[in-house]
Amino acid sequence: MSRIVPHWLLDATLILVLCLAGCTELTYQQMNDPSRDLWQKPQGVIEKLSITPRSRVADLGAGGGYFTWHLAKAVGARGTVYAVDVDENAINAIFKEMVARGTPNVRPVRAEPHDPKIPEPVDLVFSCETYHLINDRVAYFHSLASALRPGGRVAILDFHPRGFLSGLLGHGTTKEKVRREMEDAGYRLVNDYDIIDRQHFQIFTKVER
Ligand SMILES: C[S@@+](CC[C@H](N)C(=O)[O-])C[C@H]1O[C@@H](n2cnc3c(N)ncnc32)[C@H](O)[C@@H]1O
Repeated sequence: MSRIVPHWLLDATLILVLCLAGCTELTYQQMNDPSRDLWQKPQGVIEKLSITPRSRVADLGAGGGYFTWHLAKAVGARGTVYAVDVDENAINAIFKEMVARGTPNVRPVRAEPHDPKIPEPVDLVFSCETYHLINDRVAYFHSLASALRPGGRVAILDFHPRGFLSGLLGHGTTKEKVRREMEDAGYRLVNDYDIIDRQHFQIFTKVER
């Protein structure tokens, strides 16, 4: 089977099917599998984000916290990472891991689908593999601008919707669509990185009026 369909596509499909049935802690463990590092290149992503110590960051759609712990390291002990998710299982998984790792600079936040509920303005909203799951994105990101500090940025990574299965399942968004929607929501593109084969990675900032 793996000769016809690559392993990563099988994994992504499994995760999507499990999530559609309601993400479980098992789904989140799967998302955090260390083999993901090979293609996700988390160190490269963190480097491009240029996060300064003491920053406040929101990991929007944090899931099992795959990026949360990298972000927590980047902001340092005096910074804060809000691990934001709508799913109670994600929040529970993050909370458990937070206790196990002893990372007091991570705060889990239970969001509503139309409201990230970020407790205070942040320097960076980071979102990986979540953009395509958000409804009414122009309105959502327009209102999210009020959760950004002056000069704050929004980094969006999402799958290129490649291939029949990915297109059929709506598992991703084109880079151009993300850019168009973010511009409609009142942002401008500041960086467009091409470091991950399967995902686009763009950084936006608010257009000051
Ligand atoms: C595919 S997972 C990605 C998790 C993580 N970012 C990663 O890269 O491993 C997408 C996550 O987004 C969450 N999610 C979906 N819609 C959301 C929304 N409107 N606000 C916050 N989280 C959302 C889901 O519950 C899920 O945990």
